[in-house]
Amino acid sequence: MDDIVDLIEARFSKGLRGSFVVPGDKSISHRSLILGSMAIGETIAHGLLEAQDVLNTVSALNALGSQIKKVQSGIWSIRGVGVGGFMEPDDVINCGNSGTSVRLLMGVVSTCPINTTFTGDSSLRKRPMDRVVSPLKEFGCTFSSNFDNKLPINLIGTRDAIPIRYELPIPSAQVKSAILLAGLNVRGRTTVVEREPSRDHTEKMLTAFGANLVSQRKEHLSEISVDGFPKLRPLVIKIPGDISSAAFPIAAACMIPGSNIILKGIGINPLRVGFLDTLIEMGANLRILNRRFVGGELIGDIRVIYTNDLKGIDVPESRSAKMIDEYPILAMVAATATGSTTMKGIRELRYKESDRIAAVSKGLLESGVEVMESDDQLVVSGSQRNGIRGGIQIDAANDHRIAMSFLCLGLVTKESIEVIGAHSILTSFPNFVELMNSIGAIMIMPKSEI
Ligand code: S3P
Repeated sequence: MDDIVDLIEARFSKGLRGSFVVPGDKSISHRSLILGSMAIGETIAHGLLEAQDVLNTVSALNALGSQIKKVQSGIWSIRGVGVGGFMEPDDVINCGNSGTSVRLLMGVVSTCPINTTFTGDSSLRKRPMDRVVSPLKEFGCTFSSNFDNKLPINLIGTRDAIPIRYELPIPSAQVKSAILLAGLNVRGRTTVVEREPSRDHTEKMLTAFGANLVSQRKEHLSEISVDGFPKLRPLVIKIPGDISSAAFPIAAACMIPGSNIILKGIGINPLRVGFLDTLIEMGANLRILNRRFVGGELIGDIRVIYTNDLKGIDVPESRSAKMIDEYPILAMVAATATGSTTMKGIRELRYKESDRIAAVSKGLLESGVEVMESDDQLVVSGSQRNGIRGGIQIDAANDHRIAMSFLCLGLVTKESIEVIGAHSILTSFPNFVELMNSIGAIMIMPKSEI
């Protein structure tokens, strides 16, 4: 995995071809580890994403008393401690770059009578944690931070938690999951209310593990309730390919003439497919084949054939939760389309691994693409491929999705695009360069030992 260097150059490439899989879904991988740790007995996860973010969750849970081990590539054994059975860790828990790890784990320990200190890398230490701190405090736990509720944060969990009902002010699967996980160790029923439904992997998995969870949609609101003190039974979990990783080769195939690819076994949970819906609206030749359910999650094979008439569209705010991680790569596709693409209601992108609205605008402007950003909106004027110069260096800092987005753009620009900070790709898609090159992309790691 360390065979990725920090500088990668993407060069003009000819059509992508092939049939392949992408690594396991990151969200589902985190949740398999966490819920497996809250069950008693051995859970086996097949297809776990072996990338830095998920490995940070493994280390954190082991520090809290679970026994998680790799059995063989992609197959992991999780021996849980049961709901509420976590031990006080000996050391600070460092979640690296992973917002999902820290936010979900804060939920888990908030209702256990233990003292935990969380920290992360320079990107994670800048990200807002109020969104989980505020609701979790209502259970009765105590937080302290010297940095305005940013990491490092010390959390003293409560022994006498009371169940809460919380309406999410922003759509966030991380916050929703943190509350539901906290609610497992609380007598009574904990409820989360959300306006715009966010990914529901936690809900699906909680039900599969045996929790009593009720989810209902009432007059534009979703209400999700979980009963405390369930006996979670261990499971064998099959994790689908990550649609958020698949988005990169899919987008590249939409941009590079002559492309024809099939991605196999990709998770197509309806709350994750906003990017596919958007590409289809733009005119992409994209089809989902062999739809099937695996372990409660819908999966399918995605076929993409290049077409040269992609059109810019308005992407409504109501779609943002269903494609929150895919806006940077959508902006690249939009730059190669005809007409402008307006992405509305995307303020949340400013609080990701970097300010993604600013990072995308800066890089596209430098490449010769017309872009307009406002607080919560991005408009990209498509100039088809001809107008995109490239010949730039992007500093992706700690943001894997910015790194992969501009590397995909570099496959169609006149001059190549270099990305520094490419090491961040290891957080979610360790074989990204290898896979892209195996289907025809030209991505070069100048100092690579490969
Ligand atoms: C995630 C939820 C999303 C997403 C993140 C993973 C999850 O974050 O951006 O990459 O696994 O729950 P928010 O909950 O902040 O929207």
